[in-house]
Amino acid sequence: MRYRIAVVGPGRVGTLLAVALARAGHRVTAVAGGRPEARARVAAAVAGVRGFDTPVEAVPHADLLVLAVPDDALEAVVRDLARADGLHAALHLVHVAGSRGLAPLDLARRAGARVAACHPAMTVPSEAVEPERLHGVAWAVTAAPADRDWAHDLVRDLGGDPVDVPESARVLYHAGLTLGSNAAAAAVAAARQALLAAGIRHPETFLAPLAEASVANVLRDGAAALTGPVVRGDTGTIARHLDTLAADLPGLAATYRRLTAAVLDQAAPAVDPATVVALRQLLEEEST
Ligand SMILES: NC(=O)c1ccc[n+]([C@@H]2O[C@H](COP(=O)([O-])OP(=O)(O)OC[C@H]3O[C@@H](n4cnc5c(N)ncnc54)[C@H](OP(=O)(O)O)[C@@H]3O)[C@@H](O)[C@H]2O)c1
Repeated sequence: MRYRIAVVGPGRVGTLLAVALARAGHRVTAVAGGRPEARARVAAAVAGVRGFDTPVEAVPHADLLVLAVPDDALEAVVRDLARADGLHAALHLVHVAGSRGLAPLDLARRAGARVAACHPAMTVPSEAVEPERLHGVAWAVTAAPADRDWAHDLVRDLGGDPVDVPESARVLYHAGLTLGSNAAAAAVAAARQALLAAGIRHPETFLAPLAEASVANVLRDGAAALTGPVVRGDTGTIARHLDTLAADLPGLAATYRRLTAAVLDQAAPAVDPATVVALRQLLEEEST
């Protein structure tokens, strides 16, 4: 099915989706909400798009609304649409928030609209407008059985791979993704800081192959693939890391403690219990 689409929220994901949906053959007719300059960027990137201050104004121009607003704004957007009588049975509504299922779209569902929560498991930075970024990406789809086919088709139109995730599992699903993307990236950002402080001008030379291999190993074998001083029980090495960080890079010492404690949480079943106790004690010292 080819839709007339209004994108609500001309931010990172809204802008990319507007471009990608148009490239996939849909008619992106409207962009609503956000700042006028952000709407103008979408209009400049996609021919035929009109900008509107509010989602309500965009409804007559669309049979599919794609809500790409902050997660916490979803209910308010849908409530405003309901109050303005902007929800009807011929409308499809999709949101792209990872942690939210169908609940924020409930007023729309009750008005007869077809609704689905479709989350692309991909990080979308500012200025990212290449539709290829969405190719091969897994999307978590939460939809009633009657709405799964069109929701899956929409994801496939974007080159994505739809995977059904039940409403009850959405938060856990998103918590996992947050650990796997933001938390993993924060660990690498901290590592980069330490290498720069060690005088290494191109930390990526060391970190890229190491981080990629470590991630590939745990994706394949889980925590059993972890290596390093925690797994070996090298408490002396960890004590030296802590002493040096406290002296040379105190801002990173607390981060090191927390991240190493997280490594220990994962590795503990394979580590000698007395070593686990010693490591926990070492990592907790000075943190209270
Ligand atoms: N970025 C990612 O990596 C990523 C990946 C997958 C899914 N998502 C999901 O995509 C959605 C959007 O995230 P984002 O990263 O694109 O955020 P973003 O860049 O901050 O964009 C949000 C957009 O919504 C607008 N907006 C805010 N409140 C609004 C309202 N009440 N009505 C209409 N428009 C409103 C904002 O305008 P102003 O800028 O003027 O406030 C902005 O244009 C979220 O649900 C997020 O979970 C994000």
